[in-house]
Amino acid sequence: MDKPLTGQVAFVTGASSGLGRRFAHVLADAGAAVALAARRTERLDKEAAAIAGRGGRAMAVALDVADVGAIGPALDRVQAELGPLSILINNAGVGGEGMALDLSPEAFDQTFAVNVRGVYFAAREAARRMIDSGVAGEGRARIVNIASIAAETVLPGLTAYCASKAAVAMMTKGLAREWARSGVAVNAICPGYIETEINSDWFHTEGGQKQIKGFPRRRLMDENALDAALTMLAGPAARFITGTLVTVDDGQSL
Ligand SMILES: NC(=O)c1ccc[n+]([C@@H]2O[C@H](COP(=O)([O-])OP(=O)(O)OC[C@H]3O[C@@H](n4cnc5c(N)ncnc54)[C@H](OP(=O)(O)O)[C@@H]3O)[C@@H](O)[C@H]2O)c1
Repeated sequence: MDKPLTGQVAFVTGASSGLGRRFAHVLADAGAAVALAARRTERLDKEAAAIAGRGGRAMAVALDVADVGAIGPALDRVQAELGPLSILINNAGVGGEGMALDLSPEAFDQTFAVNVRGVYFAAREAARRMIDSGVAGEGRARIVNIASIAAETVLPGLTAYCASKAAVAMMTKGLAREWARSGVAVNAICPGYIETEINSDWFHTEGGQKQIKGFPRRRLMDENALDAALTMLAGPAARFITGTLVTVDDGQSL
């Protein structure tokens, strides 16, 4: 089997469930050594063991991305164990649902602490290390931010979330521009809906079912929907791709 990410070291935030869990397995199967980061470490241990059981290299890392000061030390632990970091998947995110008239300042702040500050400072800490280690100079440094179709589409009741994802989209372009010469590629995937813990309750309500029937293809996407975009943006195929938002949404936002 072709393993385009052999020799790379990836750090995936929010790898304890949903998309991040999937990303960790996809990157590992493509040959990368993978660090799985999140707060629920017992889940990370299980996924890391599953990767190791298939012959891959993986480690679990306890990390709350809202604790910005903890990000750098977490990356250092990974580099000490797996080698120089070359791929960051900035995936950890929270829903931040609630109508604007009701949403508490605390819920708003948590949405931005995880979805915006966490992404920005994880990108910065990763880029610093990729540049210092020489990985960026070799053209292997990749940062993939997980934004959403919410970056460009209004989702009613999710204004704080949409605003946070719009920030991710813009910082993707800004950071790509800042780090273009140093060799760090920064791109984003804007996924449509895939059923995970973030939205599962909703899609089992009458309103959620109605929303699915309103999509052009009347379905949610499968969990493997982002595999190709992820592998492309994390690997050699992205040599000339930076500052790009890749929408994978089955036409849901049309
Ligand atoms: N599912 C979709 O339809 C969809 C569509 C577009 C975009 N997205 C985006 O995809 C990303 C993953 O979402 P998902 O659907 O996979 O949801 P999920 O199953 O709820 O996963 C969210 C992940 O983020 C982690 N996380 C939350 N707060 C964290 C924190 N403070 N520090 C570290 N990790 C934290 C969670 O881990 P712990 O709780 O263990 O820390 C979990 O692993 C999010 O950015 C989301 O906005 C999802």
